[in-house]
Amino acid sequence: MGTIRLLDEHIANQIAAGEVVERPSSVVKELVENSIDAGSARIDVTIEEGGLQLIRVSDNGSGMEADDCEIAFQRHATSKIATSKDLFSIRTLGFRGEALPSIASVSKLECVTSSENNGLGRSIVIEGGTVRKVEETAAPRGTDIMVKELFYNTPARLKYMKTIQTELGHISDYMYRLALAHPGIAFSLKHNGNLLLQTLGNGDLLQVIAAIYGTAAGKQMLQVQAESLDYRLAGYIAKPELTRANRGGISMLVNGRYVRNFALNQALLQGYHTLLPINRFPVAVLQIEMDPALVDVNVHPAKLEVRFSKESELLQLVESEIKRLLGRQVLIPNAGKGSGDKGAYVQEQMEMERPAPADASASVSIKETAVPYKSETESRKTMPGPVQTEPVQPASAQTAPAQSPRADSAWQSPGARFAESILPGSANKPTLRQQKAAAGNFMDLLSRQDQTDRAQMPAFPQLLPIGQMHGTYLIAQNEDGLFLIDQHAAHERINYEYFFERFGNPTEASQELLVPITLEFTPSEAAVIQEKLALIEQVGVYMEAFGGNTFLMRAHPHWFPKGEEKAIAEEMCEWILSEKKGVDIARLREKSAILCSCRASIKANQSISLLEMEALIDRLAGCRNPYTCPHGRPIVVSFSTYELEKMFKRVM
Ligand SMILES: Nc1ncnc2c1ncn2[C@@H]1O[C@H](COP(=O)(O)OP(=O)(O)OP(=O)(O)O)[C@@H](O)[C@H]1O
Ligand SMILES: [Mg+2]
Repeated sequence: MGTIRLLDEHIANQIAAGEVVERPSSVVKELVENSIDAGSARIDVTIEEGGLQLIRVSDNGSGMEADDCEIAFQRHATSKIATSKDLFSIRTLGFRGEALPSIASVSKLECVTSSENNGLGRSIVIEGGTVRKVEETAAPRGTDIMVKELFYNTPARLKYMKTIQTELGHISDYMYRLALAHPGIAFSLKHNGNLLLQTLGNGDLLQVIAAIYGTAAGKQMLQVQAESLDYRLAGYIAKPELTRANRGGISMLVNGRYVRNFALNQALLQGYHTLLPINRFPVAVLQIEMDPALVDVNVHPAKLEVRFSKESELLQLVESEIKRLLGRQVLIPNAGKGSGDKGAYVQEQMEMERPAPADASASVSIKETAVPYKSETESRKTMPGPVQTEPVQPASAQTAPAQSPRADSAWQSPGARFAESILPGSANKPTLRQQKAAAGNFMDLLSRQDQTDRAQMPAFPQLLPIGQMHGTYLIAQNEDGLFLIDQHAAHERINYEYFFERFGNPTEASQELLVPITLEFTPSEAAVIQEKLALIEQVGVYMEAFGGNTFLMRAHPHWFPKGEEKAIAEEMCEWILSEKKGVDIARLREKSAILCSCRASIKANQSISLLEMEALIDRLAGCRNPYTCPHGRPIVVSFSTYELEKMFKRVM
């Protein structure tokens, strides 16, 4: 006699339960999904003790006929598919006929259901998979399922349950996703008598978002609506100022099903691109609709993952739509209204740039009047005096012909230095002062440089600088209110867009070095770099092995920030070495632009004149994205005139 036998249904169900019912939240998910599939308009969920004592889901859906009620708890019993062909056109959330028998095998379950409007229904009691009682009972149309003492007969599983709060966290998380996926259904969730979620079921997704993430968040959302040949996209995404510390605020809903999909999340984040601070994530709810034939939902035990057959088309749609949407917005966070995340921004900002001003008089240059600054003589008044401790100037600035030494040290020195940095790569061109003489007007010159950029720019407000605070923040105004601009972030953004453009065609700009620059690596690093030399050449950096673990950089684009060439090449290589997933030219180009812009930008705690402020704001306004630096930190915050008036109680 052989030793292989068929398992009885009871054990088979318990084994299936191991996959389907991982924790209380899985029960909630399966039961609520059944209620959704039954066409319910309202679904009420009651939980006790994190779901380990009680999970009750009652709905007003189709209910089950008396005869079906018992069958529903048998393995592979489903009303949702009939033939294998149906597997390719699934429009329901369930289809395997596994959930109810699995849940019933690891709990004490009671189900009351009626498919009629005559007040009569069926009740069934099952304990650990064994049917204890089936009887007729009074019941309204719909289904009411109570799951008590989950895992009472599987102590090993019970042991793995975390605290009540953790389990409840998982449950509410699922409930949020299901409510977001079905704004047309009125959901409620109660835990130990406390109402945790209630949605109206009026089809308004924004109301559901507000119910979950708060009304303030609801006001920060942008509506998404887009279509491609095969996909339809709807939903809401948050403006970049509303961020969270993890991806939990992202909900991808595919044909009404919440799914986890790394590539989709990445496409969304790519859409935000440099708008988000590092390690911050948006709130986003994307409802993606498609022909069910295009998505395989049968690839994960809990149906939480899916596979798309035209994935790249979908990813492209998501990314481009998010980019388009964000590109159209004026994204200046309002400093007056708290948005939860301000603290995080401010915190990060302070950690980044915390220069203690050595001398208050030298670092503050706020003009008393709001009259926009124009004359050069006046600009001298706001200069903090001689600046001997500044970093080395570009050679061309030092050799600029001086007319009047006094006027020069007051105006030209920092001005030219800043202008050099605001127009990176201009070291080989005439100094700004010379350009100014030639072109007549400094501002004209800057604005002419920008004309091409400006064509694509979103509406950035016109701002007039009033002054500077702590050598770090520019203060500006217009009729709408007061604006603070982080000068380093602004400069970084300007430089980033400049360098990004330049890295589009860097090889032509490469210049051979008279003295090559040496770079040292560890043996394993050197091996990787050796393989990447061809890639690195595509950003205009030519390196060759020089024996051992040493490489020589023989050429780099001439517009690399002066004095920073070695550091940039090193950081570029470090980045390539640290990227586990591999590097392509697009990402290397972007990273290189960020490295260069970072190194070329004025730092905080540097006083600049009003003219320079105007130039900076002007250049910023010409950027494709003038709102965040390449690391995603905000550049501008605003206080509306109305808010200021409220603060000073001029209006009530
Ligand atoms: N709340 C409900 N209202 C009406 N019918 C229900 C309800 N819950 C379950 N059913 C019926 O019971 C059947 C079995 O449910 P079960 O969840 O076990 O399987 P399924 O939903 O078909 O597939 P899956 O295992 O993928 O969830 C369903 O196909 C449905 O006909
Ligand atoms: Mg089901």
